[in-house]
Amino acid sequence: MNQSKKVYLVGTGPGDPELLTVKALRLLQNADVVIYDRLVSEAILEQIPAGVSRIYVGKKSGNHTLPQDEINQLLLNLAEGQRSIVRLKGGDPFIFGRGSEEALSLAKHGIAYEVVPGITAASACTTYAGIPLTHRGLAQGVQIVTGHSQAGQALELDWAVLADSNKTIVIYMGLANIDLITSKLMDAGLDANIPAAAIQNGTTARQQRVLSTLSLLSADVKKAMLQPPVIFVIGKVVSLARELDWFETEDAMSDYFADRNQSLHG
Ligand SMILES: C[S@@+](CC[C@H](N)C(=O)[O-])C[C@H]1O[C@@H](n2cnc3c(N)ncnc32)[C@H](O)[C@@H]1O
Repeated sequence: MNQSKKVYLVGTGPGDPELLTVKALRLLQNADVVIYDRLVSEAILEQIPAGVSRIYVGKKSGNHTLPQDEINQLLLNLAEGQRSIVRLKGGDPFIFGRGSEEALSLAKHGIAYEVVPGITAASACTTYAGIPLTHRGLAQGVQIVTGHSQAGQALELDWAVLADSNKTIVIYMGLANIDLITSKLMDAGLDANIPAAAIQNGTTARQQRVLSTLSLLSADVKKAMLQPPVIFVIGKVVSLARELDWFETEDAMSDYFADRNQSLHG
């Protein structure tokens, strides 16, 4: 297929390169320049043909490698000279990925672009951890929220709406605030014993899970010393995680965790 001169905002999924869409892989293999984030895995970068320029613009919370407006400007500058600019984004560009900010900047400047959806962490990491987001009798729906607050600002979520035991809650970027998040959910009436999980490095060979409950999640995550990227899932569906562990995740558990989780979920 012929690729016209464009900027492509491409979702890569959360890590496993086999979760790239056919379209994402084709664009990657025909790119003139690839711009990528910290969350784009090494295995995905290996799909870029030798000789294609790569520009790293990844961000860490509190340590912005390149501010968003500079990334927007970089895309505009590259669009002047290059034919096929592929901007890779972990997961999906339009879910906590700032893809829409980049698309708005391109649109404002009359630059042709396409957005290629990717499998978002909420979907892929939970699936690889053996947790269905919905299940008849356990969850009627899903609520996806960010657990990140701007530096110096309080995390403002609608706790009363979130505290619904018939819906699964998925929290992105929540590691720093997980103590606050779990406390607020319990204060809003969510059962302290509802199953809860943390998934680190989902869909990769380094994937780890912590299976817990709402009241113990924060302490368990600290004991397991999880590091970003971590996604949290709270809801009755987490009770299926042991039975549906098709990916055979390495659980981030000491004997302490193993014993307790056995009695909780076994
Ligand atoms: C800036 S957001 C990007 C989300 C991405 N656009 C998506 O659709 O998945 C980063 C957050 O996504 C989650 N995340 C992304 N990849 C992950 C992975 N492989 N394992 C666990 N969490 C992941 C974490 O909560 C992380 O803090």
